[in-house]
Amino acid sequence: MPRTVLITGATGTVSTALIDALDGAEVNLRALVHDPARSPRAGGAEVVVGDLEDPRSLAPAFEGVQDVWLLTPNGPRAPEHHMNALWAARQAGVERVVRLSVVGAAHDAPNRSGRLHALSDRETEQCGMRWTILRPHWFMQNLLNEAGDISATGTFAMNMAAGRVGMIDARDIAECAARVLLDDPDRHHGRTYTLTGPRSLGFDEVAGELERALGRSVAYLPVSDDAKRKTLFGYGVPPWIVDMLEEYAQAYASGWGDFTTGTVAELLGRRPRDIADFVRDHAAAFTPAERRA
Ligand SMILES: NC(=O)c1ccc[n+]([C@@H]2O[C@H](COP(=O)([O-])OP(=O)(O)OC[C@H]3O[C@@H](n4cnc5c(N)ncnc54)[C@H](OP(=O)(O)O)[C@@H]3O)[C@@H](O)[C@H]2O)c1
Repeated sequence: MPRTVLITGATGTVSTALIDALDGAEVNLRALVHDPARSPRAGGAEVVVGDLEDPRSLAPAFEGVQDVWLLTPNGPRAPEHHMNALWAARQAGVERVVRLSVVGAAHDAPNRSGRLHALSDRETEQCGMRWTILRPHWFMQNLLNEAGDISATGTFAMNMAAGRVGMIDARDIAECAARVLLDDPDRHHGRTYTLTGPRSLGFDEVAGELERALGRSVAYLPVSDDAKRKTLFGYGVPPWIVDMLEEYAQAYASGWGDFTTGTVAELLGRRPRDIADFVRDHAAAFTPAERRA
């Protein structure tokens, strides 16, 4: 009998890529959405409605599930959402949880998101089910937030100073998650994997890769925390998220993210995607509409 895998965060960046990565695998896929109007790229997945804020709404979604891919959206209530999902999973008799955490999650992390993730990591470790935790580095897909500026002006402004980051393509996170979910449940039980891309990069080097892929000039503009805050508030980004981004930017600017691991290659048997692959595959997003082929 194929196992049933419940995908949370099913309309988001990583889980969308995970649904793609599991396409064609011998599993029954079930995708959780909290807004019935938002349909995930579900392939053959069954779509179920449930809200991580409301434990009572989750029971039907978890019924008959063996494996849960557990991703909580960013925010101060992430540990509560996570607890609600683990509660529902345990009550439904789920066998294995594969959790998306974050690079450097720890009780003494220099960012509150990392500290919140540490709470859910600890809870997962004692959840009574088989478990695996993935701690990915900064997503290359975050650069898509700068795509409008890069298309329009050939520049992007970030408060990362000269910080270097072992950034990872979210598609590789998804493929690692798929590997774990498709392997025997005992194989990765009790393991925490820190996932990075193949090299640690400064944002001037990212600009150089964009320039090569797009065939036009692209420059990284280092800006102050205050300037970045003003821009983000201008886009309507909620204050907690603005603070969180600033805490990470300060950590990265100080060299906290300047490392890579070999874990993606060990799990997938191939090198992780490079920034050059990412910008080539997303070149259209960084190109003004009138110049797109
Ligand atoms: N960005 C990074 O560089 C980075 C690096 C490492 C780790 N992380 C971690 O990655 C996670 C975010 O992953 P992502 O970027 O793939 O997510 P995302 O694109 O922000 O998507 C979040 C998902 O959660 C769903 N959701 C929101 N509220 C919900 C609720 N109340 N009940 C059920 N589902 C709900 C959203 O649905 P709707 O779309 O319908 O709202 C969406 O599918 C966070 O935990 C973050 O800390 C991020």
